[in-house]
Amino acid sequence: MAGANERLSRSISLCLVRKNRIDTSILLAAVLAIVGVAGWRILHVHSMFNRTRTIAVSALLALCAGCCVRPPQEFGELTRIGHGKTDKADNHRYTVIYEHLFAPLRCSPIRLCEIGIGGGGSLRMWSEYFRKSTVFGIDIYSLDQLHAWMRNSGFPDFLPDKPDTGRIKTFVADQANREQLKRFIDASGGDFDIVLDDGGHTMEQQQTSFGFFFKYVKPGGYYVIEDVHTSLPELYRGYGVQDNEANTTLTMINFFIRHGRIQSQYLRRDEIEYLNSHIEYANLFSRRNQLASISLTCIFQKKTQNSPKFTGLDSAR
Ligand SMILES: C[S@@+](CC[C@H](N)C(=O)[O-])C[C@H]1O[C@@H](n2cnc3c(N)ncnc32)[C@H](O)[C@@H]1O
Repeated sequence: MAGANERLSRSISLCLVRKNRIDTSILLAAVLAIVGVAGWRILHVHSMFNRTRTIAVSALLALCAGCCVRPPQEFGELTRIGHGKTDKADNHRYTVIYEHLFAPLRCSPIRLCEIGIGGGGSLRMWSEYFRKSTVFGIDIYSLDQLHAWMRNSGFPDFLPDKPDTGRIKTFVADQANREQLKRFIDASGGDFDIVLDDGGHTMEQQQTSFGFFFKYVKPGGYYVIEDVHTSLPELYRGYGVQDNEANTTLTMINFFIRHGRIQSQYLRRDEIEYLNSHIEYANLFSRRNQLASISLTCIFQKKTQNSPKFTGLDSAR
Protein backbone atom coordinates (compact mmCIF):
# COMPACT_ATOMS: atom_id res chain seq x y z
CA MET A 1 0.00 0.00 0.00
CA ALA A 2 2.84 2.32 0.94
CA GLY A 3 4.48 1.51 -2.42
CA ALA A 4 1.26 2.25 -4.28
CA ASN A 5 0.85 5.53 -2.41
CA GLU A 6 4.43 6.48 -3.20
CA ARG A 7 3.91 5.66 -6.90
CA LEU A 8 0.69 7.66 -6.93
CA SER A 9 2.26 10.67 -5.24
CA ARG A 10 5.30 10.45 -7.59
CA SER A 11 2.97 10.38 -10.61
CA ILE A 12 0.96 13.28 -9.24
CA SER A 13 4.10 15.36 -8.60
CA LEU A 14 5.42 14.52 -12.06
CA CYS A 15 2.10 15.60 -13.50
CA LEU A 16 2.21 18.81 -11.48
CA VAL A 17 5.76 19.54 -12.56
CA ARG A 18 4.83 19.14 -16.20
CA LYS A 19 1.76 21.30 -16.19
CA ASN A 20 1.89 25.02 -15.74
CA ARG A 21 0.15 26.74 -12.89
CA ILE A 22 -3.08 27.65 -14.69
CA ASP A 23 -3.58 24.30 -16.43
CA THR A 24 -3.08 22.48 -13.17
CA SER A 25 -5.35 24.74 -11.18
CA ILE A 26 -8.15 24.09 -13.65
CA LEU A 27 -7.43 20.35 -13.66
CA LEU A 28 -7.35 20.17 -9.87
CA ALA A 29 -10.45 22.29 -9.55
CA ALA A 30 -12.33 19.85 -11.77
CA VAL A 31 -10.99 16.76 -9.97
CA LEU A 32 -11.57 18.16 -6.50
CA ALA A 33 -15.04 19.36 -7.39
CA ILE A 34 -16.00 15.87 -8.56
CA VAL A 35 -14.23 14.08 -5.72
CA GLY A 36 -15.52 16.65 -3.24
CA VAL A 37 -19.14 16.24 -4.22
CA ALA A 38 -18.90 12.44 -4.28
CA GLY A 39 -16.86 12.30 -1.05
CA TRP A 40 -19.15 14.50 0.96
CA ARG A 41 -22.15 12.64 -0.32
CA ILE A 42 -20.66 9.33 0.77
CA LEU A 43 -19.86 10.72 4.21
CA HIS A 44 -23.47 11.95 4.48
CA VAL A 45 -22.36 15.42 5.47
CA HIS A 46 -23.81 17.08 2.41
CA SER A 47 -26.66 18.22 4.60
CA MET A 48 -24.12 20.58 6.21
CA PHE A 49 -22.61 21.66 2.89
CA ASN A 50 -24.90 22.09 -0.04
CA ARG A 51 -23.50 21.39 -3.51
CA THR A 52 -22.61 25.00 -4.28
CA ARG A 53 -20.62 25.36 -1.06
CA THR A 54 -18.91 22.04 -1.73
CA ILE A 55 -17.80 23.16 -5.18
CA ALA A 56 -16.67 26.54 -3.81
CA VAL A 57 -14.57 24.88 -1.07
CA SER A 58 -13.10 22.43 -3.59
CA ALA A 59 -12.23 25.22 -6.00
CA LEU A 60 -10.54 27.10 -3.16
CA LEU A 61 -8.51 24.01 -2.26
CA ALA A 62 -7.63 23.63 -5.95
CA LEU A 63 -6.40 27.20 -6.14
CA CYS A 64 -4.23 26.64 -3.07
CA ALA A 65 -2.85 23.45 -4.63
CA GLY A 66 -2.31 25.27 -7.93
CA CYS A 67 -0.21 27.85 -6.11
CA CYS A 68 2.14 25.06 -5.03
CA VAL A 69 2.68 23.89 -8.62
CA ARG A 70 6.01 24.76 -10.20
CA PRO A 71 5.50 27.68 -12.57
CA PRO A 72 7.59 27.93 -15.78
CA GLN A 73 10.22 30.18 -14.20
CA GLU A 74 11.18 27.34 -11.87
CA PHE A 75 12.40 25.43 -14.92
CA GLY A 76 14.97 28.16 -15.40
CA GLU A 77 15.33 31.62 -16.82
CA LEU A 78 15.28 30.54 -20.47
CA THR A 79 12.01 28.62 -19.97
CA ARG A 80 10.51 31.59 -18.13
CA ILE A 81 11.40 33.95 -20.99
CA GLY A 82 10.21 31.50 -23.67
CA HIS A 83 6.92 30.66 -21.91
CA GLY A 84 3.96 31.66 -24.11
CA LYS A 85 6.31 32.43 -27.02
CA THR A 86 7.66 29.12 -28.30
CA ASP A 87 7.00 25.41 -28.01
CA LYS A 88 10.71 24.94 -27.18
CA ALA A 89 9.76 26.22 -23.74
CA ASP A 90 6.14 25.11 -23.37
CA ASN A 91 5.79 21.75 -25.08
CA HIS A 92 9.22 20.26 -25.73
CA ARG A 93 10.95 21.99 -22.80
CA TYR A 94 14.26 21.87 -24.73
CA THR A 95 14.97 25.17 -22.99
CA VAL A 96 15.83 23.30 -19.78
CA ILE A 97 18.55 21.36 -21.64
CA TYR A 98 19.80 24.40 -23.56
CA GLU A 99 20.16 26.52 -20.45
CA HIS A 100 22.51 23.96 -18.86
CA LEU A 101 24.78 24.29 -21.86
CA PHE A 102 24.38 27.89 -22.95
CA ALA A 103 24.22 29.71 -19.59
CA PRO A 104 27.97 30.57 -19.63
CA LEU A 105 27.41 32.47 -22.92
CA ARG A 106 24.59 34.56 -21.51
CA CYS A 107 26.44 37.84 -21.21
CA SER A 108 28.71 37.41 -24.23
CA PRO A 109 28.09 39.17 -27.56
CA ILE A 110 27.26 35.89 -29.31
CA ARG A 111 25.92 35.37 -32.82
CA LEU A 112 23.00 32.94 -32.92
CA CYS A 113 21.18 31.72 -36.01
CA GLU A 114 17.85 29.93 -35.98
CA ILE A 115 16.40 28.19 -39.03
CA GLY A 116 12.59 28.53 -38.89
CA ILE A 117 11.10 31.78 -37.64
CA GLY A 118 7.40 30.84 -37.24
CA GLY A 119 5.71 33.50 -35.11
CA GLY A 120 9.06 34.97 -34.05
CA GLY A 121 8.69 33.84 -30.42
CA SER A 122 11.98 32.00 -30.19
CA LEU A 123 13.93 34.87 -31.80
CA ARG A 124 12.56 37.14 -29.04
CA MET A 125 13.42 34.56 -26.40
CA TRP A 126 17.03 34.24 -27.56
CA SER A 127 17.61 37.98 -27.84
CA GLU A 128 16.18 38.56 -24.35
CA TYR A 129 18.15 35.68 -22.79
CA PHE A 130 21.47 36.48 -24.51
CA ARG A 131 21.33 40.17 -23.78
CA LYS A 132 24.29 41.17 -25.94
CA SER A 133 23.59 38.77 -28.79
CA THR A 134 22.80 39.27 -32.44
CA VAL A 135 20.04 36.85 -33.43
CA PHE A 136 19.61 35.82 -37.07
CA GLY A 137 16.46 34.05 -38.26
CA ILE A 138 15.98 32.45 -41.65
CA ASP A 139 12.73 31.21 -43.11
CA ILE A 140 11.39 30.08 -46.46
CA TYR A 141 8.64 32.71 -46.07
CA SER A 142 9.02 36.49 -45.91
CA LEU A 143 8.10 38.48 -42.81
CA ASP A 144 4.94 39.74 -44.56
CA GLN A 145 3.85 36.17 -45.25
CA LEU A 146 4.62 35.11 -41.68
CA HIS A 147 2.68 38.11 -40.27
CA ALA A 148 -0.33 37.14 -42.43
CA TRP A 149 -0.01 33.55 -41.28
CA MET A 150 -0.01 34.62 -37.62
CA ARG A 151 -3.04 36.89 -38.18
CA ASN A 152 -5.02 34.01 -39.67
CA SER A 153 -3.94 31.50 -37.04
CA GLY A 154 -4.92 33.71 -34.10
CA PHE A 155 -1.64 32.93 -32.32
CA PRO A 156 0.34 35.84 -30.85
CA ASP A 157 2.69 37.54 -33.29
CA PHE A 158 6.22 38.18 -31.97
CA LEU A 159 7.66 38.91 -35.39
CA PRO A 160 9.69 42.05 -36.01
CA ASP A 161 8.18 44.53 -38.48
CA LYS A 162 11.34 44.84 -40.56
CA PRO A 163 14.05 42.32 -41.49
CA ASP A 164 16.72 44.37 -39.73
CA THR A 165 15.43 45.43 -36.33
CA GLY A 166 18.04 46.08 -33.65
CA ARG A 167 19.64 42.82 -32.54
CA ILE A 168 17.18 40.61 -34.51
CA LYS A 169 17.79 40.15 -38.23
CA THR A 170 15.71 38.00 -40.56
CA PHE A 171 16.41 36.55 -44.01
CA VAL A 172 14.44 34.59 -46.57
CA ALA A 173 16.11 31.30 -47.55
CA ASP A 174 15.17 27.67 -48.10
CA GLN A 175 17.20 25.59 -45.68
CA ALA A 176 17.59 22.80 -48.25
CA ASN A 177 18.95 25.12 -50.95
CA ARG A 178 22.72 25.64 -50.69
CA GLU A 179 22.80 28.66 -53.05
CA GLN A 180 20.22 30.50 -50.96
CA LEU A 181 22.03 29.56 -47.75
CA LYS A 182 25.31 30.85 -49.19
CA ARG A 183 23.64 34.19 -50.00
CA PHE A 184 22.51 34.34 -46.36
CA ILE A 185 26.07 33.65 -45.15
CA ASP A 186 27.47 36.35 -47.45
CA ALA A 187 24.95 38.86 -46.12
CA SER A 188 25.22 37.90 -42.43
CA GLY A 189 28.92 37.08 -42.19
CA GLY A 190 28.39 33.56 -40.75
CA ASP A 191 30.70 32.82 -37.79
CA PHE A 192 27.96 31.68 -35.42
CA ASP A 193 28.31 30.60 -31.81
CA ILE A 194 25.05 28.65 -32.02
CA VAL A 195 22.96 27.45 -34.97
CA LEU A 196 19.58 25.82 -34.31
CA ASP A 197 17.45 24.08 -36.89
CA ASP A 198 13.74 24.43 -36.11
CA GLY A 199 12.64 24.67 -39.74
CA GLY A 200 10.69 22.23 -41.87
CA HIS A 201 12.05 19.10 -40.10
CA THR A 202 12.17 16.83 -43.18
CA MET A 203 15.12 14.44 -43.45
CA GLU A 204 16.57 16.31 -46.42
CA GLN A 205 16.16 19.75 -44.84
CA GLN A 206 17.70 18.74 -41.50
CA GLN A 207 20.73 17.01 -43.03
CA THR A 208 21.40 19.49 -45.85
CA SER A 209 21.39 22.42 -43.40
CA PHE A 210 23.63 20.50 -40.99
CA GLY A 211 26.17 19.73 -43.72
CA PHE A 212 26.08 23.29 -45.03
CA PHE A 213 26.11 25.27 -41.78
CA PHE A 214 28.71 23.38 -39.75
CA LYS A 215 31.54 25.23 -41.54
CA TYR A 216 30.04 28.51 -40.33
CA VAL A 217 29.94 27.54 -36.64
CA LYS A 218 32.81 28.93 -34.55
CA PRO A 219 35.30 26.49 -33.02
CA GLY A 220 33.75 25.27 -29.74
CA GLY A 221 30.29 26.44 -30.94
CA TYR A 222 27.09 24.40 -31.21
CA TYR A 223 24.79 23.10 -33.94
CA VAL A 224 21.38 21.88 -32.78
CA ILE A 225 18.93 19.77 -34.77
CA GLU A 226 15.55 20.06 -33.09
CA ASP A 227 12.60 17.70 -33.40
CA VAL A 228 14.64 14.69 -34.50
CA HIS A 229 11.50 12.70 -33.57
CA THR A 230 10.24 13.42 -37.11
CA SER A 231 12.56 10.50 -37.97
CA LEU A 232 10.12 8.18 -36.17
CA PRO A 233 7.48 7.06 -38.70
CA GLU A 234 5.44 5.39 -35.96
CA LEU A 235 4.88 8.87 -34.50
CA TYR A 236 5.07 11.21 -37.51
CA ARG A 237 4.39 10.99 -41.27
CA GLY A 238 5.28 13.34 -44.09
CA TYR A 239 8.90 14.11 -43.29
CA GLY A 240 10.48 12.05 -46.08
CA VAL A 241 11.38 8.90 -44.13
CA GLN A 242 12.13 6.01 -46.51
CA ASP A 243 10.61 2.58 -45.81
CA ASN A 244 13.91 1.13 -44.51
CA GLU A 245 14.57 4.32 -42.47
CA ALA A 246 18.16 4.39 -43.77
CA ASN A 247 17.84 8.08 -44.68
CA THR A 248 16.62 9.41 -41.35
CA THR A 249 18.39 12.05 -39.30
CA LEU A 250 18.14 9.70 -36.31
CA THR A 251 19.94 6.99 -38.34
CA MET A 252 22.67 9.53 -39.19
CA ILE A 253 23.07 10.46 -35.52
CA ASN A 254 23.05 6.84 -34.33
CA PHE A 255 25.68 5.99 -36.95
CA PHE A 256 27.86 8.81 -35.62
CA ILE A 257 27.37 7.59 -32.06
CA ARG A 258 28.40 4.03 -33.06
CA HIS A 259 31.17 4.76 -35.55
CA GLY A 260 32.30 8.34 -34.92
CA ARG A 261 31.56 9.23 -38.55
CA ILE A 262 28.75 10.95 -40.44
CA GLN A 263 26.96 9.13 -43.22
CA SER A 264 24.16 10.81 -45.15
CA GLN A 265 22.78 10.52 -48.65
CA TYR A 266 21.97 14.24 -48.66
CA LEU A 267 25.49 15.49 -48.01
CA ARG A 268 28.36 16.14 -50.39
CA ARG A 269 31.67 14.40 -49.91
CA ASP A 270 33.46 17.59 -48.79
CA GLU A 271 30.70 18.31 -46.26
CA ILE A 272 30.99 14.81 -44.79
CA GLU A 273 34.78 15.11 -44.55
CA TYR A 274 34.44 18.48 -42.85
CA LEU A 275 31.92 17.12 -40.34
CA ASN A 276 34.04 14.05 -39.61
CA SER A 277 37.06 16.14 -38.76
CA HIS A 278 35.26 18.91 -36.88
CA ILE A 279 32.58 17.35 -34.65
CA GLU A 280 33.66 17.18 -31.01
CA TYR A 281 30.56 15.33 -29.84
CA ALA A 282 26.90 14.59 -30.55
CA ASN A 283 24.49 14.52 -27.66
CA LEU A 284 20.99 13.22 -28.35
CA PHE A 285 18.41 14.22 -25.75
CA SER A 286 15.09 12.46 -25.50
CA ARG A 287 12.39 13.72 -23.20
CA ARG A 288 8.70 13.28 -22.55
CA ASN A 289 6.91 16.39 -23.74
CA GLN A 290 3.81 18.12 -22.38
CA LEU A 291 1.60 16.21 -24.84
CA ALA A 292 2.81 12.88 -23.39
CA SER A 293 4.82 12.09 -26.50
CA ILE A 294 8.58 12.07 -27.13
CA SER A 295 10.70 15.05 -28.17
CA LEU A 296 14.25 14.58 -29.46
CA THR A 297 16.88 17.26 -29.89
CA CYS A 298 20.49 16.64 -30.87
CA ILE A 299 23.34 18.99 -29.95
CA PHE A 300 26.64 18.84 -31.82
CA GLN A 301 29.64 20.69 -30.53
CA LYS A 302 32.37 21.79 -32.91
CA LYS A 303 35.96 21.08 -32.00
CA THR A 304 38.19 23.83 -30.72
CA GLN A 305 41.67 24.30 -32.20
CA ASN A 306 43.08 22.27 -29.30
CA SER A 307 40.79 19.23 -29.67
CA PRO A 308 42.65 15.97 -30.35
CA LYS A 309 42.49 14.66 -33.91
CA PHE A 310 40.00 11.79 -34.35
CA THR A 311 39.06 10.10 -37.58
CA GLY A 312 36.35 7.70 -36.46
CA LEU A 313 36.10 4.55 -34.36
CA ASP A 314 36.45 2.21 -37.34
CA SER A 315 39.97 3.43 -38.08
CA ALA A 316 40.96 2.90 -34.41
CA ARG A 317 39.90 -0.76 -34.47
C1 LIG B 1 8.03 25.39 -36.05
S1 LIG B 1 8.11 26.88 -36.97
C2 LIG B 1 9.44 27.72 -36.16
C3 LIG B 1 9.09 28.14 -34.78
C4 LIG B 1 10.09 29.05 -34.11
N1 LIG B 1 11.45 28.57 -34.26
C5 LIG B 1 9.76 29.16 -32.64
O1 LIG B 1 10.22 28.33 -31.84
O2 LIG B 1 9.05 30.09 -32.30
C6 LIG B 1 8.85 26.29 -38.43
C7 LIG B 1 9.23 27.36 -39.42
O3 LIG B 1 10.07 26.76 -40.39
C8 LIG B 1 9.81 27.34 -41.64
N2 LIG B 1 10.25 26.47 -42.72
C9 LIG B 1 9.62 25.39 -43.25
N3 LIG B 1 10.33 24.88 -44.26
C10 LIG B 1 11.44 25.64 -44.38
C11 LIG B 1 12.56 25.62 -45.25
N4 LIG B 1 12.67 24.70 -46.22
N5 LIG B 1 13.51 26.56 -45.10
C12 LIG B 1 13.42 27.50 -44.13
N6 LIG B 1 12.36 27.57 -43.28
C13 LIG B 1 11.40 26.65 -43.39
C14 LIG B 1 8.30 27.57 -41.62
O4 LIG B 1 7.94 28.56 -42.56
C15 LIG B 1 8.07 27.96 -40.18
O5 LIG B 1 8.07 29.36 -40.04
